Amino acid sequence: MKVLITGGAGFIGSHITDAIAAEGYETVVVDNLTTGRKAFLPSGIMFYEQNICEPGLQAVFHKEKPDIVIHQAAQGAVAKSMKQPVFDADVNAMGTIRLLELSAQYGVRKFIFASTAALYGMPKRLPVQETHPANPVSFYGLSKWTAERYIRLYAHIGLSYCILRYANVYGMRQNAEGEAGVICMFMNHLLEGKPLHIFGDGEQTRDFVFVKDVVQANLAAMRSKHNGVFNISSGTQLSLNQLIMLLEKTAGVKAEVQYQSERQGDIRHSYLHNQKALRLLKWQCQHSIMEGLAETFAYYKAQKEEMSKRKSESSAGFRMNH
Ligand SMILES: NC(=O)c1ccc[n+]([C@@H]2O[C@H](COP(=O)([O-])OP(=O)(O)OC[C@H]3O[C@@H](n4cnc5c(N)ncnc54)[C@H](O)[C@@H]3O)[C@@H](O)[C@H]2O)c1
Repeated sequence: MKVLITGGAGFIGSHITDAIAAEGYETVVVDNLTTGRKAFLPSGIMFYEQNICEPGLQAVFHKEKPDIVIHQAAQGAVAKSMKQPVFDADVNAMGTIRLLELSAQYGVRKFIFASTAALYGMPKRLPVQETHPANPVSFYGLSKWTAERYIRLYAHIGLSYCILRYANVYGMRQNAEGEAGVICMFMNHLLEGKPLHIFGDGEQTRDFVFVKDVVQANLAAMRSKHNGVFNISSGTQLSLNQLIMLLEKTAGVKAEVQYQSERQGDIRHSYLHNQKALRLLKWQCQHSIMEGLAETFAYYKAQKEEMSKRKSESSAGFRMNH
């Protein structure tokens, strides 16, 4: 069986690629490396440096004829979507439609889509269930919602699908500059002895789900006979103040926290009901927040140590040469 992963060199996508390749599936990655990195890809897979919005994508489908498409590639920054809504819609909506068209044309058996809790907007009820109305407050949420609607219409003409609406994903290889990267950013600041900045009083809550659990959700979706929309989340809410306490425990240091005024439009509380994924996909989180944080922190710590080792080696080399 052949699996094509778009965005397979990105944060979440590269962990999915690792797992798919490790399970012995023929693995194909399509990524234009805007935020992804080739270094994240395992050896022995097929890699196409290809934009999903460009015509070359057809040649990839023609050559590879994948059985399953796991679509992770996206413009994922909320702020960028507000500044560049056309670009955002091109990648997230039009890019998905192009993939759907090719998937239908080349007989793909299942299409799995990385969607987002952002499409719910301000939650009316907590925890947010899949039946909660979509009311996105960003163009990013809207373009993902649009893509979802196209997927559901393609299902009427025979394409099987699973739409996975991720909560706030965290873990190794995340880019601190992304919107959702608060854990990665806080960890890097702790390692550099910098203060942590919080907008508001820190009592706002989020639902943090570990990337390895998200990978397992994609594998479960791939194997499932069910079509549908599933929240992929820890199902618990954690305030940013609580998160900082857990990070201090993980890192063994005291954080300096700087509170700034609340940002307009920020969602106060958000967490997702995840029992549908348990019932139908037989998926549930296997990692507690402390386990996820410990593994993630070890990764960023090792990265920092590696970087400072390289820096001191290169400055020693520089001194020797002068
Ligand atoms: N990180 C989160 O907390 C989170 C939450 C909800 C949903 N999501 C969704 O999960 C998916 C993966 O997100 P991520 O956090 O790993 O982001 P990421 O930026 O690390 O990964 C996206 C990947 O897609 C690639 N890409 C972007 N535009 C492309 C294009 N036009 N053609 C081909 N490749 C392209 C990038 O190079 C990158 O490798 C995205 O669809 C995102 O919207 C992420």
